[in-house]
Amino acid sequence: MAQNKQNLSRRDFLLTAGAIVAGTMIGGRKALAEQAAMLGTSDAAPAFQLPPLPYAQDALEPYVSARTMSFHYGKHHRTYVDTLNKLIAGTPWAGQPLEKVVVESAGAADKAAVFNNAAQAWNHTFFWQSMKPGGGGKPTGRLLELVEKSFGSFEEFKNAFAAAAVAQFGSGWVWLVQDGDRLKVVKTSNADTPMAHGQTALLTCDVWEHAYYLDYQNLRKDFVQAFLDHLANWDFAASRLK
Ligand code: FE2
Repeated sequence: MAQNKQNLSRRDFLLTAGAIVAGTMIGGRKALAEQAAMLGTSDAAPAFQLPPLPYAQDALEPYVSARTMSFHYGKHHRTYVDTLNKLIAGTPWAGQPLEKVVVESAGAADKAAVFNNAAQAWNHTFFWQSMKPGGGGKPTGRLLELVEKSFGSFEEFKNAFAAAAVAQFGSGWVWLVQDGDRLKVVKTSNADTPMAHGQTALLTCDVWEHAYYLDYQNLRKDFVQAFLDHLANWDFAASRLK
């Protein structure tokens, strides 16, 4: 497992989130692929991969345990990726960038399963990048200026972020997003994600119970406070600014 990238740029993240490899072929594509292979070209429909964590599974302890990470990353995130690959195999989405699948499936009732798994695959990759060992503290530079302009102060931002996380009813996410020249705190339910609403995500905290229940039981507020005080990766957030 790669443990050496903690501060991926926006470009690196997009490459990671959309990471694809030669994968499963189905139906008539197999014959075409075999023919292409003989000709020295490739027609294999690529599949999404589970991106490597940017740190070791125990690197966020004591705030997120290795046990939580083993289930959250190794089971939940992996299942979203695997399910998405099954759902889109043989469709025009096979081999397309993950963000394209998310945006194109958003809001369509008959595409809900694809959206849910594609968005959750993207959201979780983004969540891992939103944290780092020794994180927390304050942003700097332009990001801090935008936070202060949008919320009044960094403390007021933290209060708004924590309040939104606690207020999210049921499963979902809390985000810092860029919407034009303003930053906002938004919460989304289930798999919903800011890109489906034309917003640029800068930072997120997963508030599904699977994100914190092994470590914090029902105390979501304590988990979100630990995220803000000890885990938030402000370098990553700054790299996402437009
Ligand atoms: Fe999660």
